Amino acid sequence: MTSGTVVLCLVSLAVLHEIHGLDNGLALTPPMGWLAWQRYRCITDCDTYPDECVSEKLFKNAADLLVSEGYAEVGYQYLIVDDCWLSHNRSADGKLQADEKRFPSGIKALSDYVHAKGLKFGLYQDWGKKTCAGYPGVLGSEELDVKTFAEWEVDYVKLDGCYSNVRDMDKGYVEFSQHLNKTGRPMVFSCSWPAYQEDKGMLVNYTALAKYCNLWRNSGDIDDSWSSVMDIADYFALKQEFWAQYAGPGHWNDPDMLVIGNFGLTVDQSKVQMSIWAILAAPLLMSNKLSDVRPEFKEILQNKEVIRINQDALGIQGKRVFRDKRIDIWLRPVEPVHLGHYSYAVAFVSRRSDGAPFAYRISLADLGMNSSNGYTITNLFEKNKSPYNNAYFTQKSFLRVRVNPSGVVFLRVNASPINPDIDRDNANNATNNVVFI
Ligand code: GLA
Repeated sequence: MTSGTVVLCLVSLAVLHEIHGLDNGLALTPPMGWLAWQRYRCITDCDTYPDECVSEKLFKNAADLLVSEGYAEVGYQYLIVDDCWLSHNRSADGKLQADEKRFPSGIKALSDYVHAKGLKFGLYQDWGKKTCAGYPGVLGSEELDVKTFAEWEVDYVKLDGCYSNVRDMDKGYVEFSQHLNKTGRPMVFSCSWPAYQEDKGMLVNYTALAKYCNLWRNSGDIDDSWSSVMDIADYFALKQEFWAQYAGPGHWNDPDMLVIGNFGLTVDQSKVQMSIWAILAAPLLMSNKLSDVRPEFKEILQNKEVIRINQDALGIQGKRVFRDKRIDIWLRPVEPVHLGHYSYAVAFVSRRSDGAPFAYRISLADLGMNSSNGYTITNLFEKNKSPYNNAYFTQKSFLRVRVNPSGVVFLRVNASPINPDIDRDNANNATNNVVFI
């Protein structure tokens, strides 16, 4: 073989490798939907808990409510079954099958039901001998199982990592991703391998993740509590310089489910979770009892402006940029971009517990916002209360906010398109305003 031929071979290998990346064109913005696990876990006793056991009834009901309660309309479109849907045995021909008693109509019928509602259907499995709850996993039957998913018209696969060899995961998940490609059916691929490898202190190959997965769990499971939400937020902040660069259209870091509307978070704390998840460009996968979500929580989950931040087309993952007086400032660059200046989502999150809302003040320039064209500002959770909405602010303007204990003030700071050389009136009006919110 001449050296020219060797180079040619290497180049074509590289090209072949390239087309074997996950190639489904999906999740260009973070996936939104509903996932059973956090709220329903592995309740399988339908006699005692008929409305809560993991069953086709539960998922049909959740699909109905996603639509009738207005969640689907604002973007929550994936209805995802988590662990404990399976029968303990594969069928005679080796296929996965659902528990007969709890899913008497089978998974294809459930998928059809979900599709008929205009939603998309997701399913949990595990790259191991067993799922985390001990049901059959895909290891050894990957190709057949992926074919079965395609037959069932699955749109989203969450692949967990229990009962597997953590060191082989990179290879196993990549192969699984290639099997998904081969079915020709676009399925969002949610990977769990980094959570397992990070847990063991291993160096995770995020370049491969971004290439072969649409989203990936970086850390342990979320619980229904403020401390759990903040532990995850802190961990993401700790790792942000490394992790954030891998997020973008088609591939996202996943801090786990939204627990808003359940038992553990107050209204203020729920706004914090929604804001930080929006800043992080995180998948918005609710896990709650949709029939029981009180209006004040539903309003948070359905806040269109906050969802718009989460779904921003630039797909840049934001970061925690500042900590002062137990106020954390989170920042995410978003559209529109004018003359090279980004707009921003800014969240002031209070870690305080000293009663009165805490007054905090910082200039736009100190947050790195220095467009000479100025900015307009919207208060995303208190839209009607801000007298300054739609006024112009310069980089010298101060943001002055009052943040409730374990609460948030969440702002959109839009770069202004005005050109001060041409639009002198607007530019002059804009100097040194102070925002009192
Ligand atoms: C793991 C995952 C959870 C959930 C359970 C199911 O713990 O991280 O999200 O899927 O398994 O057993």
